Amino acid sequence: MTFPLFPPGFRFGMATSAYQVEGAFDRDGKGPGIWDTFTARPGTVRNGDDGRVAIDHYHRYAEDVAHIAAAGTHDYRFSFSWPRVLPTGTGPVNKPGLDFYDRLVDELLSHGVRPVPTIYHWDLPQALEDAGGWLSRDTAYALADFAAVLADRLGDRVHDWITLNEMSVQTLYGYALTSHAPGRGLGFDALPVAHHQLLAHGLAVRALRAAGAATVGVAAQHFPVEPASAAADDVAAAELFATLTNWLFADPVLRGGYPPGLGDRLPVRDGDLETIAAPLDFYGVNYYEPTRIEAPRPDRDYRGVLEVDVPAGMPFAPVPVPAAERTDFGWAIVPSGLTTILTTLRDRYPSLPPLVVTENGASFREPVADGRRVAFLDAHLRAVRDAMAAGADVRGYYVWSALDNFEWAAGFEERFGLIHVDPATLARTRKDSWHWFRDLIAAQPRS
Ligand code: NOJ
Repeated sequence: MTFPLFPPGFRFGMATSAYQVEGAFDRDGKGPGIWDTFTARPGTVRNGDDGRVAIDHYHRYAEDVAHIAAAGTHDYRFSFSWPRVLPTGTGPVNKPGLDFYDRLVDELLSHGVRPVPTIYHWDLPQALEDAGGWLSRDTAYALADFAAVLADRLGDRVHDWITLNEMSVQTLYGYALTSHAPGRGLGFDALPVAHHQLLAHGLAVRALRAAGAATVGVAAQHFPVEPASAAADDVAAAELFATLTNWLFADPVLRGGYPPGLGDRLPVRDGDLETIAAPLDFYGVNYYEPTRIEAPRPDRDYRGVLEVDVPAGMPFAPVPVPAAERTDFGWAIVPSGLTTILTTLRDRYPSLPPLVVTENGASFREPVADGRRVAFLDAHLRAVRDAMAAGADVRGYYVWSALDNFEWAAGFEERFGLIHVDPATLARTRKDSWHWFRDLIAAQPRS
């Protein structure tokens, strides 16, 4: 087998997030988060799954780090549980909660793995949600204070930070729709959520820099959006959807202003745009599949067409992307979409910092012999190389995910891991893709 090769210094990583792996939902003083509340509501998650135990990474982190390190992984991207560290989101630190991340970081470093933590990956403390959540500007300031707490404790050993994960998905699924926590279903009234998360990002960059952070980035979901046809109404619907899901979040970060047309729905105050556009050391891209959009046809019922329903009355309707192959989640396998999005970002933003693919991967449910995941990752790495050959400055690639875990509204049935986790015993087993990833890293040229 020949492996796709990358320049010396290119970083290979694995990624997870706190709520998806940690479990220990009420241990050692952790407060409730919005995913604890959401999953307790019947009908929110497939099979009634929740993250109370998840894959018990809180207690098994040493074993997990050993598996991650044994592949030769350079970087491990994980996230902090905000309600574990600050049980009500602000106020006194819960020392045992923060101690957990201290141990995790030390464990990673002792194995030669670089920690690249994300400050916020969707698990807002419930107390902050009760006070308005991301609809409230105060949440942005609270997140910056949380970032300062983390940098103060870990900044002597953690040098690389990611502020927020997929602000677009939290805004869309959590506040505009109802499929993720907190499940507000506000439609276009969710737009302030976008601004407050972006403000939180900018304020967190400032706090991390003040604490001496060496490199700071963000992890943004991006995907090409294609119209279902060349008809003008489909093209306009696709453009609006691309604006709301991609450019609404990237434009203020990377070029200092919102895309035109969103009017006064965004509660921007003086100075906010400068804060949000704080220079970054890298821009993280999470890519899974492209999206296809049509202008809603009055005679067509879109319910159940895709895994998330966009309510009737919206000016766009997502429809399936034609693809020869799909993951077990039903997502289209289109590696060239990754090349497209990386080169689109390079073309759109003249001052784009270096890119890192902070997530890419697939749900395939076979426990260990996961040749389909190997083929998926191989093809997507080749797509990254194509983007680099076309001039995109990509410095790293992180697989989602290190381990099978709690896939949000889809629960444990969707399995993204390089390492299998037995649902009953929680035993870890390295999949074929783990061995492939190890060999891929070993085959890379050294500087
Ligand atoms: C994006 C999210 O950041 C991550 O939490 C999720 O599990 C993967 N995509 C797969 O859906």
